[in-house]
Amino acid sequence: MTEHQHAQAPNNTARRSQAWFGASGRSGMVYRSWMRNQGFGPDVFDGRPVIGIATSASELAPCNAHLTRVAEAVKRGVWQAGGFPLAFPTMATGETLMRPTAMLYRNLMAMEVEELIRANPLDGVVLLSGCDKTTPAMLMGAASVDLPAVMVTGGPMLNGKYRGQDVGSGTHVWKFEEDLKTGRMTQEECFFAEGCMARSNGHCMTMGTASTMACVAEALGMQLPGSATWPAVDARRMETAQSAGRRVVELVHEDLRPSRILTREAFENAIRVNAAIGGSTNAVLHLTALAGRVGVDLAPEDFDSLARAVPTLLNLMPSGAYLMEDFCYAGGLPALVNELVRGGLLHGEQITVTGRGIAENVADAERIGTDVITGLDKPFQAAGSGTAVLRGNLCPDGAVIKQSAASPRLLTHRGPARVFDSPEAYHEVADDPDLDVDENTVLVIRNAGPRGYPGMPEVSNVPLPAKLLKAGVTDMVRVCDGRMSGTGYGTVVLHVTPEAAVGGPLALVRDGDPVVLDVPNRTLRLDIEDADAELERRRAAWTPPPRPHTSGYAWLYTEHVEQADRGADFGFLRGCRGHEVPRDSH
Ligand code: FES
Ligand code: MG
Repeated sequence: MTEHQHAQAPNNTARRSQAWFGASGRSGMVYRSWMRNQGFGPDVFDGRPVIGIATSASELAPCNAHLTRVAEAVKRGVWQAGGFPLAFPTMATGETLMRPTAMLYRNLMAMEVEELIRANPLDGVVLLSGCDKTTPAMLMGAASVDLPAVMVTGGPMLNGKYRGQDVGSGTHVWKFEEDLKTGRMTQEECFFAEGCMARSNGHCMTMGTASTMACVAEALGMQLPGSATWPAVDARRMETAQSAGRRVVELVHEDLRPSRILTREAFENAIRVNAAIGGSTNAVLHLTALAGRVGVDLAPEDFDSLARAVPTLLNLMPSGAYLMEDFCYAGGLPALVNELVRGGLLHGEQITVTGRGIAENVADAERIGTDVITGLDKPFQAAGSGTAVLRGNLCPDGAVIKQSAASPRLLTHRGPARVFDSPEAYHEVADDPDLDVDENTVLVIRNAGPRGYPGMPEVSNVPLPAKLLKAGVTDMVRVCDGRMSGTGYGTVVLHVTPEAAVGGPLALVRDGDPVVLDVPNRTLRLDIEDADAELERRRAAWTPPPRPHTSGYAWLYTEHVEQADRGADFGFLRGCRGHEVPRDSH
């Protein structure tokens, strides 16, 4: 058989990629010939699994900038296992640079990932992500195609080090900002500290959203065990990437798809792991959106009720003292998961990308020391200190608060509202020494929801008014329809739903209205006289703010984005559309 005949005589016509590379005639010639301009010999078209490596590397997304190197390690693994690796770029939603917020583009990235996987001759895919939104976007896109998939997150940065102190990305931005405002730090010191905070490749090394979603992806069973916690620059990051490359080829042979992994039980595991790591509130949105892709019904309350029995075992910033590098050396996520398994808190049989149950994956994982990963017998924070879901006349469709990041004394609070129609309106006056607020005031920041901003930015934990900071006040209640960075802290009620821009009750609050926050009883309400009737009256007089966009992607977004209780996905992207492509391109 000549090489050319070999290429036209596939040995596995059932393989999806063979609809391209095994095709006869003109189409097959087109599919193969152009690929050969990259130096691939005809043997790669013989029916072996073709593995896409979706790479969100970008210099505009610093947390993902090194993923091209990670892709090389994945490729090695794919070749080793007899697959044919093809890396392709996806967009990268970098948290730090993108305006108005990277969240505006999560759904766009998910859509791109989905379409690229489906449109190309792939049998399986490895998903390379890092920064906050890139992990959920990859998972959402891949879930909607449902070809065998393994995620490899890029790993956290090394611990920040400033003057002998560990500094956490994100978390210390808020601290340095306060230190600057109060004169504890000079501008020069602050510039120097910036460089100390982000000193290696990788994503934020606090338990912010990126670390949270990396752990959540592993808890869902979509990453290899240990993959979430190796630092980006640790040689074992490349080792795990190579293993993922090998494993995805086997997944194709086994036909083990995300739909078998992403079950209700997997989401319950992820929610519990998120509680045990003191994870970001953003996981609520991303997991809800992902669940929508695979037909698992997650209600906001699931995050609360499932997490209530789970203590926080991880002593990481922003809630604790350590950073991801320490977590890794203390045994990483497998050690923590094993502790939860031993406590009977997880569905241990739930299948993962290893082909085995999550409990079996981590059976040998041990905690090293007890400071970073604590045991269930002596947890870092007692059960029930995680994300609470609130309801009430101010948030009929829910709101969340991260209790571990809040001040315990403020979890039950009553105070007068001081309302700002946008985060900018607040920032304009935040430093005013005569601002009419005191430590009991409830700062209400609105029009920062999915449609209102648009994109639901991380603006909810506005810094305290300078006047109060100077007086030594360290926290106050803030209520907002936006999100909070996973690295943020404070008594901040987030994701108030429905948002103000669609006429949620948040739009109807007035200065001076008494706001009651009662986290133990899971309520957030306006304590005004005859509240229902009064809110109705106010609603009748309310006019929606003008739509900020009349064309372009931002318009599409505001047309189709759902509220936070549905994960802020586009309505038309819910569900799995599979991998079939009915028509040829030539
Ligand atoms: Fe990218 Fe924090 S900014 S992970
Ligand atoms: Mg973040």
